[in-house]
Amino acid sequence: MIIAANFKMHLTPHKLATFAATLRDSLDSRLQILLFPNTACLASLPQCHVRWGAQNAYPAQNGAFSGEIGAEVLDALQIQTLLVGHSERRALGESQDFCAQKCRFYAELGFTLVYCIGEPHNVRAGGQESVRAFLDSQLHTIPLDYPNLIIAYEPIWAIGTQAASLEQIATTHADIKALCAARGATLPLLYGGSVKPNNAHDILSLDNVDGVLVGSAALVVSDFVKIMQAGLQTL
Ligand code: 13P
Repeated sequence: MIIAANFKMHLTPHKLATFAATLRDSLDSRLQILLFPNTACLASLPQCHVRWGAQNAYPAQNGAFSGEIGAEVLDALQIQTLLVGHSERRALGESQDFCAQKCRFYAELGFTLVYCIGEPHNVRAGGQESVRAFLDSQLHTIPLDYPNLIIAYEPIWAIGTQAASLEQIATTHADIKALCAARGATLPLLYGGSVKPNNAHDILSLDNVDGVLVGSAALVVSDFVKIMQAGLQTL
């Protein structure tokens, strides 16, 4: 089971060290923990047996791309995991083609990729068939046969608000698994979007949910540990 946290712009290096010091005592080999701190923290990561990843990277070794980080620096920092396609990056202008380009570039380098997909509210309002078609378009040109690929389903309307219902998660995860299977792929599938200590157990108990990608609830280490414990209870 995968329990991942995307800290977005939050947590200074000092706060991250405090977080990791507490987390260390709660690690369990049955859980794969993936943590995505902000880019500045990647240079001074605390000791903690988790998989650290970057929230973003440019698909090049190096070059004149101000504000970006490339493969050469990630390699020097021993980062081998990358979040791609988060809706907050897509909202900044990242196209589907660019997300696919990133996936292909970093797959070539052997990175573990957490590729985010998720529909906006107006697509959800159109019903499950329109959701399925939208998510299908976000899987287009992604190398789904890549063995180190993880998909995260994060409905945009559920981020920072209220999680999707259990029925919505179950139906949509089944759809995503089927879309991947139709392309010959069996991939781990995480749910993200307002995962909290009080809903994590129910979400993680669902079929086709292989883990969660947690945002704001991961900022408080005791809440993140509760989500980990909820995951362990479902095993
Ligand atoms: P929240 O858990 O704050 O809704 O954020 C989810 C998310 O965007 C994780 O990538």
